[in-house]
Amino acid sequence: MSIEFFEGKNIFHLQNEEISYVIKILKNGQPGHLYWGKKIKNAERLDRYPTSQHRPYEAYAVKNDSGFILENIAREYPSFGQSDFREPAYQIEAENGSIISDLKYKDHQIYSGKKELDGLPGVYLEHDDEAESLEIILYDEVLDLELTLTYTIFRDYPIITRSANFENKGKQNINLKRALSMSVDFEYRDFELLQLSGAWGRERDILRRSLDQGITKIDSKRGGSSHQQNPFAALVEPDTDEYGGEAYGFSLIYSANFIAQAEKNHYGKTRMSMGINPFNFNWLLENDQSFQTPEVVMNYSDQGLNKMSQNFHQLYRSHLVKGRYRDQERPVLINNWEGTYFDFDTDKILEMAEAAAEVDIELFVLDDGWFGKRNDDTSSLGDWYVNEEKLPGGLEYLAQEINNLGMDFGLWFEPEMVSPDSDLYREHPEWAIQVENRESSLSRQQLILDLSRSDVQDYIIERVSAILNKANISYVKWDMNRPMTEYGSLKLKPGRQRELNHRYILGLYRVLEAITSRFPDVLFESCAGGGGRFDPGMLYYMPQTWTSDDTDAVERLKIQYGTSIVYPASSMGAHVSAVPNHQVERSTSLKMRYDVASFGNLGYELDITELNVDQIKAVKNQVKNYKEIRSLVQFGDFYRLRSPFESNFTAWSYLSQDKEEVLVGFYQILASPNPREQKVKLKGLDAGAEYKELSSGEIYGGDELMNYGIKVPYLKGDFSSKVWRFQMI
Ligand code: DGJ
Repeated sequence: MSIEFFEGKNIFHLQNEEISYVIKILKNGQPGHLYWGKKIKNAERLDRYPTSQHRPYEAYAVKNDSGFILENIAREYPSFGQSDFREPAYQIEAENGSIISDLKYKDHQIYSGKKELDGLPGVYLEHDDEAESLEIILYDEVLDLELTLTYTIFRDYPIITRSANFENKGKQNINLKRALSMSVDFEYRDFELLQLSGAWGRERDILRRSLDQGITKIDSKRGGSSHQQNPFAALVEPDTDEYGGEAYGFSLIYSANFIAQAEKNHYGKTRMSMGINPFNFNWLLENDQSFQTPEVVMNYSDQGLNKMSQNFHQLYRSHLVKGRYRDQERPVLINNWEGTYFDFDTDKILEMAEAAAEVDIELFVLDDGWFGKRNDDTSSLGDWYVNEEKLPGGLEYLAQEINNLGMDFGLWFEPEMVSPDSDLYREHPEWAIQVENRESSLSRQQLILDLSRSDVQDYIIERVSAILNKANISYVKWDMNRPMTEYGSLKLKPGRQRELNHRYILGLYRVLEAITSRFPDVLFESCAGGGGRFDPGMLYYMPQTWTSDDTDAVERLKIQYGTSIVYPASSMGAHVSAVPNHQVERSTSLKMRYDVASFGNLGYELDITELNVDQIKAVKNQVKNYKEIRSLVQFGDFYRLRSPFESNFTAWSYLSQDKEEVLVGFYQILASPNPREQKVKLKGLDAGAEYKELSSGEIYGGDELMNYGIKVPYLKGDFSSKVWRFQMI
């Protein structure tokens, strides 16, 4: 890994064993983009580009070269207004109303390691020699504005991170109307855009569409990263599949409104950009103030989508997720939500906990309804005081009793919210997000607290800490259950109202930093009506996420498969719930439900006291089995083998880092009479090694499993599954 600057050629070459990324300072002083992809040894020779090319009816940005047309030149962080009519990476407005800027190269710095982003989550290093960074400093003398573009290239991954920082060095105010994290221009490529889209209960479907002249965009305006669009996109070649072809993946470490867009212009060039959603965004930069964009992770694979996903998984598992649980196996939990909803008391919870302890579940999670007067979703959010009527003896007693059963105790919170019917709202109505003289839209009968305010942030830190200090709580589920509407803060000045969404998320990050550092031994799981904020920003603070409120095993095949495009199994909460399923009314076998959930962080979410003796016995075996495979699931390499989006079957596998253990899952949705035979070809094994299938004792060659495959036995009935475990001998 190295970053070189070729002075005479004005070229920066960032490279590691696998990739090259090449930047050139163009003749107008602005940074241009030359190349990103598979490694090119002498990339400085690319200084012959860009070539000057006259085009009719275009403008040119330097006087003596009518072929220097920015519209036709690959740029690194493009401005608007100087002969490039594509969407820019940033936009400013000066005090005189001018929207023109000209940020030219001033200086650069190359150093080993990577700096932290102020107030924002980001990929971190354990040692400086894991990565090298480049800062390119650009300056506009008319505006007295400085822009620093930061790039980090990693030693062990074909990955580059990027972000940008604006600093107003002058006396005039500057409005930043758009400040994306990155932009990259690709020349002469016919890409398709791959995205993860959905809705509540069916998050992260894999969608793929070709790009034509114009803009193809995904975004969130919902306040959080959203169920509808994940802050991820990939550019892929039409023939790229799971194991072949090029894929450029972009993942934004951010949890609020974002945009990812690909713009293909009339010369067939594709501009990919990503960052904070410019819609409804403005940031006032006063003298000496600076603005830091979130970080984007740019991932290159020339071995298809699966390799791109594995790169993300490895980086996020080891350099994004923090704290004690990063490398620790996650506990098997039971959550009471679908088992009781709001209808519980201490006796009921202890009865469930006793049954859970019998089957060796390790953690009991008490979900919504333990505080204030909350017996349904109409009240009490914000009143984080235990409801002693429901839980006499409080959380201390409950936690103690659960600990006595040999289990840890975990608790649900929704700290960013307030119910209009709550003591907190009666005392501080001004703390809710709202617009003066306008009625606030409700969602799930609740409002959002204005986390741009430091008094609100401090209240949340204090209240959550007080509860966590009072009882022995080992796990927190941090929920957030509504989109943001009527964007407005009673505290922000009129000229800063459009800063609210970003200030909100900076406030949340401050709260999460404070609480997670105060309680380093607590396992945090984030949630937003299931997977409405399943993003790398939240993963930085909380190592796992409740993947979806849809717990149906068939639906979960798609949800977990789609989620795996970016996120590792160790980040996905996956529960076995009751049948008929509460979201889709489908009944699947306990085996199928386990066979799907056990490919994530296993939990149970049902009233376990209602299971019969045989079911209890089966669950006990499942928990035992999961404890044997969980390190493979949570830390192994994932392979997508058959897509639920394409057929009646799904298959996937985990392979341990040393290639010695393999776990394969195969799932059939609907049965058919007299069916065709199926086999699955495994991936990544040691071709020369022998593997023993643990239930049958049969021996297979690694080459056989990968080339011939393994034959799937005849699966009877709808919603059936087969799981194999192999061990190298
Ligand atoms: C939404 C979550 O996704 C559910 O799992 C549950 O915690 C409810 N909120 C509780 O209100």
